[in-house]
Amino acid sequence: MENKKKIVVFASGNGSGFENICKKLLDLEFLEISKLYCNNNKALVLDRAKKYGIENFIFQNNDLKNKKVLLDLQKVKPDLIVLAGFLKKIPTDITNKFKHKIINIHPSLLPKYGGKGMYGENVHKKVIENNEKESGFTIHYVDQNYDEGDIIFQKKIPIKKKDPVNLGKEVLKLEHKYYPEIILKCLSDGKS
Ligand code: GAR
Repeated sequence: MENKKKIVVFASGNGSGFENICKKLLDLEFLEISKLYCNNNKALVLDRAKKYGIENFIFQNNDLKNKKVLLDLQKVKPDLIVLAGFLKKIPTDITNKFKHKIINIHPSLLPKYGGKGMYGENVHKKVIENNEKESGFTIHYVDQNYDEGDIIFQKKIPIKKKDPVNLGKEVLKLEHKYYPEIILKCLSDGKS
């Protein structure tokens, strides 16, 4: 099919979110997962990309600043850039060129528990430490400030057990349930 919508995914580590996106979206004929961008050459997500036959672009963190990543994105011309467990800040030259075309998923109810150092289990530990009654995840547009772009979707859950590992598992399961749907919504609602 011509004129397929193109998405690319950025991930740094495990990549369960990336694999879930592949499982749920790869068969859609109007969409192409063009590339995985990864800043860690030992990341498990690279094996997952191989399994699904998706090209990868491995880069050093410095390549975010020296425009290597930006130049490649400009070649690929994605309709949407999806961050799925990507742990570095996206520099302003990329956020400016791809305004409202970059989305991120974060395992807390932003603006709470966002910002530098707040990822994965660190987030859930802090949430439990602070005796929060609820948590969840947030999908948001990425702008020049870490974890601060416009919120697209949030899902809240009550915290039943004071156990960060359990909370992390519950939140991740929900992330997997909703992220593919929201990606499709972002592609179809005109901004991307
Ligand atoms: C996910 O929980 C995602 O929300 C989080 O990293 C995990 C990645 O898991 N992202 C952040 O914390 C971004 N600040 P995965 O590598 O198995 O997909």
